[in-house]
Amino acid sequence: MTATKRIGILTSGGDCAGLNAVMRAVTHRAVLGYGWEVVGIRNGTEGLYARPPDVVDLLVSDFSGELLRRGGTFLGSTNKGDPFAFPQPDGSTKDRSPELIEGYRQLGLDALIGIGGDGSQAILRRLAQQGGINLVTIPKTIDNDLGHTEVSVGYATAVKVATDALDQLQPTAASHSRVMVLEVMGRDAGHIALNAGIAGGADIILIPEIPYTMEAVAKKIESVKKHGRNFALVVVAEAVKTETGEAVRQQGFGDGKYGGIGQYIAEQISQRLGAETRVTVLGHLQRGAMPTARDRIMASVFGVHAVDLIAAGRFDRMVAWSGRHVIDVPISEAIAAYRAVELDGPMVSTARGLGICLGDD
Ligand code: F6P
Repeated sequence: MTATKRIGILTSGGDCAGLNAVMRAVTHRAVLGYGWEVVGIRNGTEGLYARPPDVVDLLVSDFSGELLRRGGTFLGSTNKGDPFAFPQPDGSTKDRSPELIEGYRQLGLDALIGIGGDGSQAILRRLAQQGGINLVTIPKTIDNDLGHTEVSVGYATAVKVATDALDQLQPTAASHSRVMVLEVMGRDAGHIALNAGIAGGADIILIPEIPYTMEAVAKKIESVKKHGRNFALVVVAEAVKTETGEAVRQQGFGDGKYGGIGQYIAEQISQRLGAETRVTVLGHLQRGAMPTARDRIMASVFGVHAVDLIAAGRFDRMVAWSGRHVIDVPISEAIAAYRAVELDGPMVSTARGLGICLGDD
């Protein structure tokens, strides 16, 4: 064991379910297992700009109640303001990384655990290298698109929320003989759409990894009808483009956020078939929900292993889940290996095997 006595933890990037469970696991292992102190940094790296840094001591007693069960992150997070190119009021950018590193130094920490997706981990690693910070990271993202780990914290809950939505859309779809279109998150990866679509009995699943035609979508809805069913369920991932290849973005959010493809698909179905369609956009419900058992378990496994890595003096590593084991990999490798839906993987072939239309046949 090293002489580490005081470690920091922060959540960075978009929140998700299971982050509070990670912090509980880290605190339990560090305090009860090693007798260390744990310091929570508020609002991701933003807490390190403040003077004194905006932090809170984390105690085992802080986690005795409902935090294990609560979605989001009680520490707060941020997914804006790259410290290496921080936006200034005049439109220029400034490298504010030295301020963050100074904030970290003021805390007298021996190591830092960063919970984040690929973007946050890339920033944290750069800071760690520049500032000599002993960094270990824990993967979290509902999108589940990080390489070298089969799952990231938050993903299972997002899939559950989307599956629950399909469970609740089916009876109303059947009551009104409608085609229900459910738009789910996932940024550029279709994992949530594909997995929830399979779990929730979707007829059609559209993901960014597989180009589609409206002809194939319409054909499937007609075939469902021909087989005597009066409704259909369609799941579409937010990053799916229009049939002619244009990205669909919400208006009024600067560079634009995904959103709106569900409406487009529903209109196309309605125009082609005259079918009555309705759209549900799940949005951030997928992030704030109570974490599933699976997410709490992964959060616990990852949190304990991250602290053990620090105890062993093994830094610049991301904890990961692979082949029923917790492992750790170099952060640089994890963030370099983007994980889209594998076109020849088991979920795509399962969907096809079930007769689900993926838009390409
Ligand atoms: O990366 C996680 C994610 O929830 C994506 O699935 C989604 O596109 C994006 O973040 C939404 O970001 P924001 O919370 O900034 O709207």
